[in-house]
Amino acid sequence: MRRAPRGTGRLIALEGVDGCGKSTQARLLAQALGVPVTGEPGGTPVGRSLRTVLLDPALPEVSPRTEALLMAADRAEHVARVLGPALEAGQWVVTDRYSGSTLAYQGFGRGLDVGELEWLVSWAAGGLEADLNVLVDVDLALATERMAGRGDRPQPPAPAPASDRRPAGAAVPAAGSGRPRRPQVRAERLDRMDRLDDGFRRAVRQGFLALADADPIRWVVVDGAGPVDQVARAVRQAVTDRLGDPPGGWRR
Ligand code: TYD
Repeated sequence: MRRAPRGTGRLIALEGVDGCGKSTQARLLAQALGVPVTGEPGGTPVGRSLRTVLLDPALPEVSPRTEALLMAADRAEHVARVLGPALEAGQWVVTDRYSGSTLAYQGFGRGLDVGELEWLVSWAAGGLEADLNVLVDVDLALATERMAGRGDRPQPPAPAPASDRRPAGAAVPAAGSGRPRRPQVRAERLDRMDRLDDGFRRAVRQGFLALADADPIRWVVVDGAGPVDQVARAVRQAVTDRLGDPPGGWRR
């Protein structure tokens, strides 16, 4: 993959399944670097419109290829308007999701060909790869618990359309199975991707782990299960180990 030329600028992508805590970690890392955090989908004005099309559960579902192309369009705009200029100015940039998310969600999750997607994301990004992808990894039970805790307390589910229901076995384990009851997430708070079932989310997590395994130079896996501060220290340590200290030093 061609790399866009740049000097001291570095691109760091926080990746992981929904509910893994990567948005919090992206924000903390950006604060520690003294830079604003950006993210996908929706890091530009056009991207915010694309995000609505992609995630609004009130809109009809799009096909996997359409979804991949819209994610790629969002990325192309993000690179052109935000990431590229910042990197050219020599800044370190933290993005909440980047190309790895397309490979994991549209490839491993939706079942599109990962090799073809690699070409697509590279083309969309003009060859700009993240210098480091930090995968904040948590198991699905914890990710679900954290999604349930977002904004609202977990509470009994609002009735969801039948098409949005999780597989019955996943939502309510058989009595006496010993598995903890899955936390319920308010349906109206879930975007279209959040509503995907456990099989999809498991495939996405395994996809991220496979991507990290295949490219240990550009990927690092951080255990996201601990308290926020502990994970933040691990993220920062991983960044320092791989990329060194930022030109302006760490803020705190
Ligand atoms: P994100 O903004 O991280 O989720 P939230 O703010 O709801 O926590 O991402 C929105 C969703 O978009 C998320 O489910 C992952 C998905 N996504 C893809 O499927 N492919 C992509 O290339 C990207 C960037 C995101």
